[in-house]
This record gives sequence, C-alpha cells and structure tokens, in this order.
Amino acid sequence: MPSASCQGVWRGKAAHKNPSTVHAWAGYVPTSSGSRAGSPGLGEAMRKLVRGSFPNKPWKKLKSMVHWSPCVVSFRKRCPWVQLTGHAGNFKAGDLGHVLKKYCSNEQQCLERLGGDALQPYVPAYYGMVQHEGECYIQMEDLLSGFDNPSVLDCKMGARTYLEEELQKARQQPHLRRDMYDKMVAVDPCAPTPEEHAQRGVLKPRYMQWRESLSSTSTLGFRIEGIKRASGTCSTSFKKTRQPEQVVEAFWDFLDRDRHLLMSYLGQLQEVRAALEQSEFFKAHEVVGSSLLFVHDKTGLARVWMIDFGKTVPLPEKQTLTHRLPWVEGNHEDGYLWGLENLMAILQSMLGKQASPLDTSPT
Ligand SMILES: Nc1ncnc2c1ncn2[C@@H]1O[C@H](COP(=O)(O)OP(=O)(O)O)[C@@H](O)[C@H]1O
Ligand SMILES: [Mg+2]
Repeated sequence: MPSASCQGVWRGKAAHKNPSTVHAWAGYVPTSSGSRAGSPGLGEAMRKLVRGSFPNKPWKKLKSMVHWSPCVVSFRKRCPWVQLTGHAGNFKAGDLGHVLKKYCSNEQQCLERLGGDALQPYVPAYYGMVQHEGECYIQMEDLLSGFDNPSVLDCKMGARTYLEEELQKARQQPHLRRDMYDKMVAVDPCAPTPEEHAQRGVLKPRYMQWRESLSSTSTLGFRIEGIKRASGTCSTSFKKTRQPEQVVEAFWDFLDRDRHLLMSYLGQLQEVRAALEQSEFFKAHEVVGSSLLFVHDKTGLARVWMIDFGKTVPLPEKQTLTHRLPWVEGNHEDGYLWGLENLMAILQSMLGKQASPLDTSPT
C-alpha cells in the first residue's frame, strides 16, 4: 500500500475557534475542469407541493476556515477546501488535487466498482488507498480543484438514511444513545417519548427516523445538508428544511439568484439521472446516505457529483431496485430516483415553467 506523499500537500493546524461550525481546510486549485453547460427543458412532472414552514437559522460565517501554507511554493491559485458536512476528522488534504477520506470498506469497494460504470463521470476519481500518520485512507479526486472560491451544496439523497442492516443490529443489540437524545431535545424537547425521556437515551434508528421526518428526506426523498457560499457564509442548519418552498429559497441563496447556473445544474441532473438509469452499479446497490455535491464559482463553472458511498451496499443476489418504490423493510428500496426527480421538479419550478404537482407518495 503506497504512502501519502506530503509533497505538495497543504499543511497546518486547524485553528478551531468554534468547534460547532463546519470543518474546513484550505487546499489549492490544481486542475482545470470543463463546464458542462446544462440544457433546461426538463419534461418532469412538477408534483404536489407540501404546505408548512420551518425558518432556517441565519447564515454563519465560516469561522473554522483553516488557512494552510503550501509546503511547496505553488504557482497555482489558492482555494479553500471545505468539508461541508459529515464526521469531523474524516478528511485530510492529499497530494495535489486529491483528498484523503478515512478508510471505509463499503466506500472503497464502491469507488473501485464505479470505475468503468456509467456513473464514473459523476463520482470522484479513485486513486487507491494510502497510509497517512498510521491510518488508512481512501485517496480520491478533490472535486473542488479547478474552482475559484467555490460555492458548495451537499444534498443527501434518498428517502432513508440508515441501512436495513443497521435496523437489524439495533434490534439485536439495542444501545441507547445519550448524544442522540440530547440532539433530539435540543431541536424539540417534546420529541422523545416519556420512556426515552426517562432513559435519557434513544436508539440510533429511532433518532434517524425522527430526523428524516423533520427534514424533507421522508417527504421528498432528499435533504439539504449544508451550503457554503463564495462569500464565506456557511450553514448546516437545514434540519427542519422540509417544504419545497424552503428548498427553493435555500437553492436561490446558494445560486445567488443566477438562473444560468440553475439551468446548468438542471442539465447536469438530467445527465446524472440518465447515467443512473444505465448504471449496472446502481441496479445492484442500495444507495443510502449518499449525497449530490453541487459546486460552482463566479466564472460560471458548475458541476454536480455523487459522493459518500459509506452506506452503499450490494443487494442480495439477483435482487434489483426501482429506487422509486416506497421502502418496506426487506425490499431495500432507497428512494434515490424518486428523490432526484422531486429535486429536479423543484429546481425546474424555479425557472417559472409550467409545473404539475410533486409526487410525495412513497413515504
Ligand atoms: N472528493 C471530494 N472533493 C471535495 N470535497 C469533498 C469530497 N468528498 C467529500 N467532500 C466534502 O466533505 C463533506 C463530507 O463528505 P462525505 O463523503 O459525505 O463524508 P461523511 O462520510 O463523513 O458524511 C462533503 O459535504 C463535501 O463538502
Ligand atoms: Mg456524507
């Protein structure tokens, strides 16, 4: 197993003033990547809109942005590398244009299998595993390279964020989580049942189901996890973003109200959907907890990628999924395509085109 070379890697120590804000590193811009101009004109049915409103918390300045110094003086442009969501400490800067993510066998196997699949253009390139300071990492393409001070949005796809096997495990070995109970109470003190209050703990699947019902995961099949804008403002306060109108507002903010960017993203989402329909990998996997990462900058360059395959698992032999049907335990349906089409319909509605109602039926 090769070792991660430190040459050309940004180095430095995080100056976290506020650990509750997002984790961010500064990296650098190495490669150029071409814009795929998106074509609008989705023939998607715009489906029934859900009523209600949950205001987002105000935007936070990206306080934990870390400024690194390149250990090799580079002629390349400097650009912040941002880990918008996910587990703190999961990522390290890699060689030029690469990032290192803590090893997870599911994810590593997925990235390997995705090489040569129809989805390959829409996932980070995989460069094998490396050892770094005694730990094993997956080395992959830094999707922010090639962008100049990018805006980034992480959208978690699917109608469910836990695997069937997690449910089974929780049943076999029930383990009360105090941290999850505390998070629940912080959002809604009435959310835990009297029993959960008495135990001061909740089971993980219960917490995840509750989070799904709070956000648009269960009603729309996706949820916004975090947004970082070019201005440096950043928000991960989308736990209660549930209604299409709230999603629309979050996207307009992210896009700085730029319709051309919106059209570009819509065109790319069409391409991603077409690739998903073709993909042998997608047919044979339950895709849970994976995100679409939207990245653009002020030059108009905009790209969408699929990331995070830590909870993407092969289906039992000979089983395939529609990725659209409602989930019933045992059928492994993940609602990925249902969510993607709802997302596309919402983005399409932002262009002011005629729309029919969203399909909120699966869950
Ligand atoms: N290949 C990549 N290039 C650039 N940014 C990435 C890449 N992979 C992940 N990120 C950033 O890190 C965040 C968390 O990544 P993710 O793979 O979802 O981690 P986790 O498994 O901890 O949820 C994303 O929201 C995104 O901001
Ligand atoms: Mg993630």
